[in-house]
Amino acid sequence: MKLNRNFENLQQSYLFIDIARRVAAYKEKNPGTDVIRLGIGDCTRPLAAPVVQALAQASEEQGVAESFHGYGPEQGYSFLRAAIASYYARWGVNLAEDEIFVSEGAKSDVGNLTDLFDADNTVLIPDPVYPVYVDSNIMAGRRIEYVDGSRENGFCPLPGAAQKADILYLCSPNNPTGAAYTRAQLAQWVAWARQNGAVILFDAAYEAFIETEGVPHSIFEIDGAQECAIEVCSLSKTAGFTGTRCGYTVVPKALVRGGTSLNAMWSRRQTTKFNEVSYVIQRGAAAAFTPQGMAAGMENVAYYKKNAAVISGALTAAGVWHCGGKDSPYIWLACPGGLDSWEFFDLLLEKANVVGTPGAGFGKNGEAYFRLTGFGGAEQTAEAARRLQKLLESL
Ligand code: MLT
Repeated sequence: MKLNRNFENLQQSYLFIDIARRVAAYKEKNPGTDVIRLGIGDCTRPLAAPVVQALAQASEEQGVAESFHGYGPEQGYSFLRAAIASYYARWGVNLAEDEIFVSEGAKSDVGNLTDLFDADNTVLIPDPVYPVYVDSNIMAGRRIEYVDGSRENGFCPLPGAAQKADILYLCSPNNPTGAAYTRAQLAQWVAWARQNGAVILFDAAYEAFIETEGVPHSIFEIDGAQECAIEVCSLSKTAGFTGTRCGYTVVPKALVRGGTSLNAMWSRRQTTKFNEVSYVIQRGAAAAFTPQGMAAGMENVAYYKKNAAVISGALTAAGVWHCGGKDSPYIWLACPGGLDSWEFFDLLLEKANVVGTPGAGFGKNGEAYFRLTGFGGAEQTAEAARRLQKLLESL
């Protein structure tokens, strides 16, 4: 028996597991310390009332023979796919219901989509970025090339004339930097993908945080993207579904390579390996798309962005370079005093009892940077910002 030796090329553990272990070890050694977690981007606001009502009602239905639901439609219930299609119509994007695949979240789909592609493909990944793209392709044994994000290019790297690859991941607004591609910039990547026959896997998980005029919420706002892109999105960060789990992936029917429809391939893959999101959760998700559900979601987005502004204020006061927090819940800062990102992680944990995420976990270009999230509670975030500023000013 042969194991998948590609696993030997992965970091020893997944970034956020690594951080959780270090924090647990610190807490064990220092019991009673008030550690504030601004590391993983996990929501703290509860589900909106219309979502909770829909979940409760759907649970009741499941207990009654006449309204009981067993296996559902393989791509998700029409009531939810129609709601998602209407949501996209807000950006002028027309989707057919059979281009939408309901999932249990963006993370698994961005990894699972690699099933569509041969191992003998080159994957292009911006650096820094959400580590799941890199890890999933290492597991599959694909060649990975990186396109460098930097302060100079505003962490929105663009294709070079000589850039070649088969698959490209883009995350906009970006996790971890908060940078968001403009329409003109995204159009450059779409033109590049079409020229090279490449497929873009576009992660739109943070689209609800966009406030800058002219920043697209969906790659399908760009002409020609339906022929070269797949989009993955999630209710995690917009409707607080990190623990409830529901997302969706759009695979346009116009996306064809070598005469084969990727929509048909993804449908084939999902029907074999995935058994739909539960009826109850899909009812809750549909409620998140109602006007009341969306208003509540946007209130939470505003709450998290206010937290990001509080963190940003502390960094500005301490004279620390940072970006993000505008179209994103994340603040991306330069580590002070020449520290690398894991050194700053330790310092912040030990001296201020605040947990963040070392930039190195998002790629080599994150080595001298650090991410803080606005997803915490307002009071804890204000306290963390106060401690952070005090620490920075003492260095
Ligand atoms: C993050 O903190 O980067 C995200 O919460 C991770 C995720 O969405 O899986």
